[in-house]
Amino acid sequence: MGRPLRIAIDGPAASGKSTLAQRLAAHLGYAYIDTGVMYRAVTWAALQRGIPVTDENALTRLAETLDLDILPPTVADGRPYTVLVESVDITWALRSPEVDAAVSQVSTYPGVRRALTQRQRQLGLRGRVVMVGRDIGTVVLPEADLKLYLDADLETRAWRRYRELQERGETVSFEEVLETMRQRDALDRGREVAPLRPAPDAIVLDTTAMDIEEVFQRVLALIEARCQETPHVAG
Ligand code: DC
Repeated sequence: MGRPLRIAIDGPAASGKSTLAQRLAAHLGYAYIDTGVMYRAVTWAALQRGIPVTDENALTRLAETLDLDILPPTVADGRPYTVLVESVDITWALRSPEVDAAVSQVSTYPGVRRALTQRQRQLGLRGRVVMVGRDIGTVVLPEADLKLYLDADLETRAWRRYRELQERGETVSFEEVLETMRQRDALDRGREVAPLRPAPDAIVLDTTAMDIEEVFQRVLALIEARCQETPHVAG
């Protein structure tokens, strides 16, 4: 088997998926695609337009029609990409506590998922991608050559997210972050369509006691091992 061309990384919020994926993509010269951005963009647009997060039909129409662009970074402020909705730069607005609190609800709706999964699959099938989300290995790109599932305990993940928010100057308490994350976990894992879970052939990594460098090195070793595997020849 050669170098994996489609890498899927799934896992709960703040398990380290995005950081790992960005490093891997840069290292391999692949595209980095963060599918959570699409759910966040639909949620942000709904909040802006006063669409209730309970209005499944309106949210589905929004997901089907939203003018959304994900581009390489246009500003050197640490962003991994630039996200435009109707040409407005919403890259950082997508990370607000308001979007955090509503996005998991929005992503439970089958119509929203259908629309966004279709867009994601088109991008993933191009190959040379590291794609990150909740259902990449199970639904969006089940044919991925390497599937990773990152996990970490709830408190650790809440601390990571709390520190990120603080660094960006958001005023939010640790308890609020913890509670939001607990609720998001329950919604992401419990929803009927494409719930968060490892694909049967995914490699599960618990990052609770690992820093990003350790995770990165571990995954590089896995990729190296895949490259060395010789295909079984029958007869
Ligand atoms: O990875 P993130 O925190 O930016 O994702 C935001 C939300 O989007 C997450 O709570 C669940 C949803 N999501 C999803 O349902 N499926 C994906 N492939 C990616 C994200």
